[in-house]
Amino acid sequence: MEDRPIGMFDSGVGGLTVYKEIKEKLPYEKIIYLGDTKEFPYGSKSKQSIIDLSKKNIEYLLRFNVKAIIIACGTATSQALDEVKSMYDIPIIGIIEPTVNYIKENKKYKDIGIIATRGTIRSNTWEKELKSKIQDIKVYNKECPLLAPMAEEGWTQNEIATLTIKEYLKDFPKLDALILGCTHYPLFENTIKKELKNVEIINTGKIIADFLSKNLCSNKNIKKEEQVKKIDEIYLTDTECNFVNVANNILNSKVNIKHVKI
Ligand code: DGL
Repeated sequence: MEDRPIGMFDSGVGGLTVYKEIKEKLPYEKIIYLGDTKEFPYGSKSKQSIIDLSKKNIEYLLRFNVKAIIIACGTATSQALDEVKSMYDIPIIGIIEPTVNYIKENKKYKDIGIIATRGTIRSNTWEKELKSKIQDIKVYNKECPLLAPMAEEGWTQNEIATLTIKEYLKDFPKLDALILGCTHYPLFENTIKKELKNVEIINTGKIIADFLSKNLCSNKNIKKEEQVKKIDEIYLTDTECNFVNVANNILNSKVNIKHVKI
């Protein structure tokens, strides 16, 4: 069990923000990452398209004998998780439930904002999950369809990013916390922090990494000297994109990608 890799997927570079946190917490886990760059962006697609794409991605990852699959994508979590969980006999983990449980157990927020893709906000999954678990919480949603394409372009810290973030955040009331409901958005964290002072910014990748280390990875008990670092694999469904440049920046190292037709 321990030696089997973990599979992850997203529409592009966003899931790497989750990947990075998992590698920091669990450096000895091998990860197979699938970026469905051919179908990017997921945020503007219908629920049925997201379910179909999620199934296709999961079936590809299953070829690697993965022990679990992380849906490192808010859009796919919000619209396809329930469906795919009932179809495959393997742990499939999205970004929403562990985050809401973490907030319920550790925080006392009254007013919480969510920024995410159009599809995620349309599904209302974050709000339903938060309100079903946390009494009297007020939830404010904002779709931010430009952010994921800007992140793919590497425009996360420039003037355009600052103006776009300003525009998207301008109608929020005073918040206790803001959930980055799309895995591309942690790339804007510095820009967002400049705009929203004294508001806690919730990066789901960190919470998923903690969740995995507590629940899934039994090899964390193996002594360090007995563990071997494994080489991760990154697959993309289209390579005519800026993935490698952005990925090198996110991970601070040179990534090797393989093109795959699925
Ligand atoms: N990173 C994704 C998410 O968390 C998808 C963004 C997109 O493809 O539109 O929602």
